[in-house]
Amino acid sequence: MELETTSLDECAALGSAPAMPKKVFVKTYGCQMNVYDSQRMTDALVADGYVATEAIDNADLVLLNTCHIREKAAEKVYSELGRLRDLKSERAEAGRDLTIGVTGCVAQAEGGEILRRSPSVDLVIGPQTYHRLPDVLAKVRKGEKVVETDYAIEDKFEHLPQPRRAEVIKRGVTAFLTVQEGCDKFCTFCVVPYTRGSEVSRPVKQIVAEAERLAEAGVREVTLLGQNVNAWHGEGPDGSEWGLGRLLFRLAEIPGLARLRYTTSHPRDMDDDLIAAHRDLAVLMPYLHLPVQSGSDRILKAMNRRHKAADYLRLIERVRGARADIAMSGDFIVGFPGETEGDFEATMQIVREVGYASAFSFKYSPRPGTPGAEMDGHVPDEVKDERLQRLQSLLVEQQQGFTQSMVGRTMSTLIEKPGRQAGQKVGRSPWLQPVIVDEKVAEIGDIVDVRITKTGYNSLFAEPA
Ligand code: 5AD
Ligand code: SF4
Repeated sequence: MELETTSLDECAALGSAPAMPKKVFVKTYGCQMNVYDSQRMTDALVADGYVATEAIDNADLVLLNTCHIREKAAEKVYSELGRLRDLKSERAEAGRDLTIGVTGCVAQAEGGEILRRSPSVDLVIGPQTYHRLPDVLAKVRKGEKVVETDYAIEDKFEHLPQPRRAEVIKRGVTAFLTVQEGCDKFCTFCVVPYTRGSEVSRPVKQIVAEAERLAEAGVREVTLLGQNVNAWHGEGPDGSEWGLGRLLFRLAEIPGLARLRYTTSHPRDMDDDLIAAHRDLAVLMPYLHLPVQSGSDRILKAMNRRHKAADYLRLIERVRGARADIAMSGDFIVGFPGETEGDFEATMQIVREVGYASAFSFKYSPRPGTPGAEMDGHVPDEVKDERLQRLQSLLVEQQQGFTQSMVGRTMSTLIEKPGRQAGQKVGRSPWLQPVIVDEKVAEIGDIVDVRITKTGYNSLFAEPA
């Protein structure tokens, strides 16, 4: 086949400017999985001829990759869409287009409602259909408005292009890699089973290939992602069924990958292999995000968590038995329907018993369509506020205690980027704390031993060990 090519000079002679590549700006809300999805959508669009931009004012296409986990998240999206509508009208006056798309969990949950509330939106596409983005945009260019929120039967990851080496390098020495998506647990407060659909694990081969590509491009630390990452399972090369523990052992063999992490886990899926991985793999970082949500058995039952507080505590004891320096992180919800002062006190108690290095805590927010929203005994907002404040001051105290305990310790640090102040670089400790060092200490991507000299609010200052 012959290609017809036109040189720039010929274009000028013909009086037409060469077509500039269209620019896409993706704004990400919510969890790390959305960060990963935004990158993969960008990769798909770059393969389709777009270039990524960090400046919304330059963009021809703006995608809001949204989160629906709590109320304010969706409201923020609608107010951003208001601002984009104004930008679109300014553009129209200047004779230039702006395409607006909503992706992610709000897109999935609200679907066509978004077009009704925000008519300037051109496309709405749910998390399971990102691989169709180039086709959807082709329809939009023909003047259609498109809503795609079905759970696709094809494997989106197989259809999404792999990130280009240059993109990976631009994104830095740490990377996310989604290995599992969706959830079958149906905790009664949570929209995820409805927005992300049922649990799907990516095959071993796909994951290993992607991790190898990341490592070849200079990535040193990979965080495996999944809404229920430790429910990941797949067929190993020997035909046997693998769980996340086996997968971590396999990924640990990849040359150049020096650090592995995974998030987020459910206590019911912490199996023996995974605990063994914490015991045996030096590259698996000693940090575990294991949400418990509440310390009250009554509330855990109403939340459909399917374990008791004592099960969680026993599990942590086993994990700590396998890896003594492991630090715990968690998620908590206060004010779930029916939560009494006694139930809340049980949450405070479990926090005291575990001792968290960091944690996220939220006021319960009824999500439409979830069983929790229909339950009796909704807790007044003032009570939720007051409980959240008490819980957060305990968690902050624990986090600061943990940070303080680092002073004088020697630890490995992955140097990630230039610091905010001249002459500094910022690294990452095994426990996810930012570590600030003199820029001459090491190059980006190096892993060096440093000694902690003092602390900031959550960061550590260090010198070469
Ligand atoms: N209200 C408040 N917090 C919630 N989370 C999930 N759903 C809700 C909700 N309806 C929190 C949980 C979960 C984290 C990602 O968000 O703690 O672990
Ligand atoms: Fe939501 Fe529960 Fe599934 Fe986590 S395990 S995503 S909280 S339903």
